[in-house]
Amino acid sequence: MQPNLHYPLSPIPYTPPRHVAIIMDGNGRWAKSRGLPRTAGHKKGADTLRSTLNACRDAGVKYLTIYAFSSENWKRPSDEISDLMQLLRHYLQKELDTLHENKVRLRFIGDLSQLDKDIRASIDDAMEMTARNGAFNLTVALSYGSRQEIVRAVRRIVEKGVAASDITEETLAEALDTAELPEPDLLIRTGGEQRLSNFLLWQAAYTEFYFTDILWPDFDTKHFTEALQDYAGRERRYGTTGEE
Ligand code: IPE
Ligand code: IPE
Ligand code: MG
Repeated sequence: MQPNLHYPLSPIPYTPPRHVAIIMDGNGRWAKSRGLPRTAGHKKGADTLRSTLNACRDAGVKYLTIYAFSSENWKRPSDEISDLMQLLRHYLQKELDTLHENKVRLRFIGDLSQLDKDIRASIDDAMEMTARNGAFNLTVALSYGSRQEIVRAVRRIVEKGVAASDITEETLAEALDTAELPEPDLLIRTGGEQRLSNFLLWQAAYTEFYFTDILWPDFDTKHFTEALQDYAGRERRYGTTGEE
């Protein structure tokens, strides 16, 4: 039987996913269809992020991890990259106080060494400032690629001199950038593509996937709620028969 779903008119009568991960895709196409530069799509996408964050908190989600810029996105034209970085600077400056007031802990994962110095400094400040917040966890994957993350993790393990026979799944999980995060329960990708594009390959082993054609700048709270409702109807078996 379908659960009785009334959100957002009444509290959600089901357990929300604890951790939602989102591949925010479709900004460029959104802009193109309006005859606008791609950056206009990225800007509108930043608004979507704000509303999605609020929707997560309203729904009782505790962790939101967003794919903001992939290691492969460095291959884009330099104009688009600098526009995206400028948007990030602006977003951090504008939103940090509000996030902090709302007790949001902000984390960044990825190869941050590739970023400009000033951005790295702002990121360090933001992580430090919000480090003791516990109401919500927002993690931004930036210059992030899951394969590179796994390689970095293996290097850390080798550098520590861990014996091969002592290496377990936990050893690797704890060496990943996501060590402090639970695994994602629900992964949403907007924009119509049905692939991971190098996002959370290890972490998503048992994550539920939700793909939608809606472009990220158009993805509103109603669409997000639909994703949560879809998730609520999933049966997670983790390889078992699903019987008690
Ligand atoms: C996602 O939107 C944002 C980033 C990758 C930074 P895109 O820029 O990939 O938009 P599309 O997929 O070209 O429409
Ligand atoms: C994935 O989107 C990365 C982000 C959303 C940040 P892309 O647009 O880069 O992925 P592909 O190229 O379609 O796989
Ligand atoms: Mg894309």
